[in-house]
Amino acid sequence: MSNQSIIKKIEELKKKRKAVILVHNYQTAEIQEVADFLGDSLDLSRRAAATDAAVIVFCGVSFMAETAAILAPEKLVLIPDPAAGCPMADMITAENLRDLKSEHPGAIVVAYVNSSAAVKAETDICCTSANAVDVVASLPRDREVIFVPDKFLGAYVMKKTGRALILCHGYCPVHRDILPEAVVEQRRLHPHALVMVHPECPPEVIDLADEALSTSGMVRVARESDREEFIVGTEVDMLVRLRRENSDKRFYPANPKALCVDMKKITLEKVLRSLEEEQFEIVVPEEIRRRARRAVDAMVDGQWTVGSKQ
Ligand code: 13P
Ligand code: SF4
Repeated sequence: MSNQSIIKKIEELKKKRKAVILVHNYQTAEIQEVADFLGDSLDLSRRAAATDAAVIVFCGVSFMAETAAILAPEKLVLIPDPAAGCPMADMITAENLRDLKSEHPGAIVVAYVNSSAAVKAETDICCTSANAVDVVASLPRDREVIFVPDKFLGAYVMKKTGRALILCHGYCPVHRDILPEAVVEQRRLHPHALVMVHPECPPEVIDLADEALSTSGMVRVARESDREEFIVGTEVDMLVRLRRENSDKRFYPANPKALCVDMKKITLEKVLRSLEEEQFEIVVPEEIRRRARRAVDAMVDGQWTVGSKQ
């Protein structure tokens, strides 16, 4: 079947099932084409919480679909391929986090949304790359803060807030492979370009950049900036959207091989099968969901209440 026929079938089934298709900015061009909403982790969580659709088909990785299921327990949340995981999210378990908490009693726990539901259940507040700095900056200064699992995002937040954070050793393998030498070389080739990188990049790469931004932050800056050229330090399919929405501007990847294989496990055929057979349902055990929800709600509403020590 051609892509166009699959897309047509997806559109028909989507209406029949009252489904909404949420798509992350790293998905391929053809998956972006069937999106009802395309965004970063924070945007997509907010959409999942607000939608009145009966079914959410989540085209991204499993922690994102799990976050949707945490926020919308009355909806059927489907991921077209349950093997689409996130290696960074797997770098910390709930047990690891409980150990860290017992070493630092009284610490506030901030978990990057790239983490399992079980880790979120052990957390005070979740954050994404779009609001990590704001979340940490707002916390009372007389409390220790544990930040998991991304050591690179954690280092960036420490630099921006001037706060010491207790970190673990997680990182994104895709962003780790964006190297400072590559950014320097791209700058040499495109001296007028604005360099924007994701805060999951190593600190030496962020230091070389003009901006460190979430994926939707990049969309906004590309649209609003007067610059005509951009060097982009993140997953390569980010450039699909940037180029489509800014046909008069030029975008160069800092590392053209920065590809998230998990994101690419979602294909049009699998989205169609997902709608046809209502698969694969994301189920978060209720006890974990309830505890994780507080931390995710705080992130989505932008409101949290973690007080100073009494
Ligand atoms: P954003 O929230 O910026 O879209 O990032 C998610 C992610 O997984 C980056 O690797
Ligand atoms: Fe996880 Fe990195 Fe892929 Fe984002 S790009 S989903 S952090 S592995």
